[in-house]
Amino acid sequence: MEGGDWFYTGAVKEHFMKPKNFYKNDKEVKNFDGYGRVGNVKCGDLMEMWIKIKDDKIKDVKWKTFGCASAIASTSMLSVMLKEKGGMRLEKALKLTGKDIMDRLGGLPAIKIHCSVLGDQALRAAIYDYKMKSGRTDLKVDKPAEFDEHAH
Ligand code: FES
Repeated sequence: MEGGDWFYTGAVKEHFMKPKNFYKNDKEVKNFDGYGRVGNVKCGDLMEMWIKIKDDKIKDVKWKTFGCASAIASTSMLSVMLKEKGGMRLEKALKLTGKDIMDRLGGLPAIKIHCSVLGDQALRAAIYDYKMKSGRTDLKVDKPAEFDEHAH
């Protein structure tokens, strides 16, 4: 695929049209264990994510964004990856990169790559929140950077 092309794969379109694990209301995340909220410094778009943890695995994920189609598609795919096979181990989830998500999506236009890391960053922020609440200091995740949504 040419780097500058505005080409979206079938997987991107599918996840954009029917996003998986999209947040619907507060009730469904009431008993979740971690919450993260991050902004994209490039475009100013926001992403929120909630995670449910059991036995060190991600059992459920909900997310919400005011980001673009690529952010929606990549975070939807990320949420599927986190929940499949009984839930991803936290340690493994922390090693996921935007590239892993893009590989599963079959790529994104180069100009949209910054959108694919938004879900990934929200996930780290949610795991950090879980770390602080649960005292799991062994988890190797740093405090997410503060984001001023009005500065963009
Ligand atoms: Fe902002 Fe894609 S343009 S997340």
